[in-house]
Amino acid sequence: MREHKIVVLKGDGIGPEIVDEALKVLDAAGEKFGFHMVCDEQLMGGAAIDATGVPLPQETVDACKAADCVFLGAVGGPKWDSQPGSNRPEAGLLGIRGALGLYANLRPAKIFGPLKSASPIKDAIIGDSMDLLIVRELTGGIYFGERGTGEENGEAYAYDTEKYSVSEIRRIAKTAFEMAMKRQKRLCSVDKANVLDSSRLWRKTVIELSAEYPEVELSHMYVDNCAMQLVRNPKQFDVIVTSNIFGDILSDEASMISGSIGMLASASLAEGKFGLYEPIHGSAPDIAGQGVANPLATILSAAMMLRYSLDEPQAADAIEAAVDAALKTVRTPDIYEDGFKKVSTSEMGDLVASLV
Ligand code: IPM
Ligand code: MG
Repeated sequence: MREHKIVVLKGDGIGPEIVDEALKVLDAAGEKFGFHMVCDEQLMGGAAIDATGVPLPQETVDACKAADCVFLGAVGGPKWDSQPGSNRPEAGLLGIRGALGLYANLRPAKIFGPLKSASPIKDAIIGDSMDLLIVRELTGGIYFGERGTGEENGEAYAYDTEKYSVSEIRRIAKTAFEMAMKRQKRLCSVDKANVLDSSRLWRKTVIELSAEYPEVELSHMYVDNCAMQLVRNPKQFDVIVTSNIFGDILSDEASMISGSIGMLASASLAEGKFGLYEPIHGSAPDIAGQGVANPLATILSAAMMLRYSLDEPQAADAIEAAVDAALKTVRTPDIYEDGFKKVSTSEMGDLVASLV
């Protein structure tokens, strides 16, 4: 039997409950498709701060490096708001991205047929579907650049720096071109090249690489225009590639267009097959422990993990089909509509597992 060794980081808030449901579904898929998951549970985020004093213990990093890939719930919560920036749960997340070289963040934003009415965008704009993929650079730019604080003329100041090298831009652009080749072959590179030098280098590098992908139709858009176009006409996009900070902002916007942030999965990939998989949504501390969280984004992240890191495409397809099938009859409270049966986090997990 094939064995897949993963590190599981349940995290904070609803993290543990939604991860448990995804593991349930992974076990069901393993039974059906002939593999066995070996899970090594480690600490990250607020849970790690409570247990060890730091958001990303070295032991966690070492365990991740020894595994096939990493599966994450969500981190953060008000409990740790008073921690200094470098010791917040979020610093653990940035730290693990850097430590594992997870430079390519794939954030698909799509509307699930049966959930179309959940989108806040008018039907006339959405049409039958929306399915776009944001490829966000994840280990460079302003989130990782030089930063500092000081005092000048009796006044405090602080700064952060946006810096990108050609090789950093090239490798994320390559990921995006490859993804576009597997989809509708349209790539939009988003930058602020009318103002920023780092964006001008970004654009030049993406254009140079485009010579290697003659089949992909490449366009460029300023980030402010892109924020507007996502709401005006989201269907114009197939793949978007952009920097760390622009991708952070635009992917939240794109996820809301789908209306069901509780449904969206993501992958953060390193060179080769290694990756970290997590739902797009956060740790939702306000509803933690109540059994009402929607586990589907996490379950769909498990499907992405099977597809991109573990070479189990059939199991990935089966999980996605099981989610679609489950949505025909049941709903968690966040996506509840009249005519469906309202179910808890674990009831949803049980049903999806039984449908795999
Ligand atoms: C995200 C989150 C993180 C980010 C935070 C929690 C550090 O917003 O994954 O989009 O900014 O990258
Ligand atoms: Mg974000």
